[in-house]
Amino acid sequence: MLTALVYGPSPMADRPSNRRMAPFGAADVEASSKQTMVNEVFAKVASKYDQMNDLMSFGLHRLWKDDLVAMLNPPRTARPFEVLDLAGGTGDIAWRILRAGGTGLRVTLADISPAMLAEGRRRIAAERLVRRCRFAVTNAEALAFRSAAFDALTIGFGIRNVTDIGQALREAYRVLRPGGRFLCLEFSRVDVPVIETLYDLYSLTTIPALGKIVTGDGQPYRYLVESIRRFPDAASFAGKMEDAGFSQVSFRILSAGVVAIHSGWRT
Ligand SMILES: C[S@@+](CC[C@H](N)C(=O)[O-])C[C@H]1O[C@@H](n2cnc3c(N)ncnc32)[C@H](O)[C@@H]1O
Repeated sequence: MLTALVYGPSPMADRPSNRRMAPFGAADVEASSKQTMVNEVFAKVASKYDQMNDLMSFGLHRLWKDDLVAMLNPPRTARPFEVLDLAGGTGDIAWRILRAGGTGLRVTLADISPAMLAEGRRRIAAERLVRRCRFAVTNAEALAFRSAAFDALTIGFGIRNVTDIGQALREAYRVLRPGGRFLCLEFSRVDVPVIETLYDLYSLTTIPALGKIVTGDGQPYRYLVESIRRFPDAASFAGKMEDAGFSQVSFRILSAGVVAIHSGWRT
């Protein structure tokens, strides 16, 4: 097993036991500071985010996102259908949903980072899809939307960045209408030993190096890689979805466990 690269305060630092801690990369940080640190990461990478995704995943992220949208299967009609793409960043999932759906489809692209959302707005405008898209700066843990406002909620590579995942899942449940669907694309656990070793080597060494070449700073990519390694496996995450109230919870493992797509329904 490779030694973990640490980004942020040392996990060994002395700390009073009554402070609430949250994982940030390989370290644990005070829960109250985590979001600020996450926001700094995405403010730094926003302009190169899409380019880096292609480089890091050899373009595979496009196929994973296409699979997510295929599972969502938005109606291709004029029937109103409201989707919230949460932690939607540069709009890479939102534009796919908009292209797949009919004239009744509306997507709200929401993210806590104004820098990522600015890239998303540019992207959606460039695709000439802006008339069917709204944009919102909001925290997944306290969504700025009324209850039962959406027919579906997607979140891609976003939930692991949130400080309190349970709270974000409860908020997702709240804003979905009864019968609405939650779909989450997230990194998972590689379960084929040889691939796991190669994946560890690649993600812990090559990705931060690539980040440094492309963005001038490898640190944000160390955080991103370490946050993947600390995210729960697919079965544990499914349990968290059930705890938040979702029913018919299931997941599909893709690319030998590199990612999983989780599905659940609001009753
Ligand atoms: C890895 S990017 C994913 C972007 C996009 N969904 C995609 O798949 O390309 C993660 C996004 O989560 C956002 N994010 C992090 N914490 C958040 C929170 N608490 N609430 C909403 N968005 C958050 C970040 O600003 C960032 O845009």
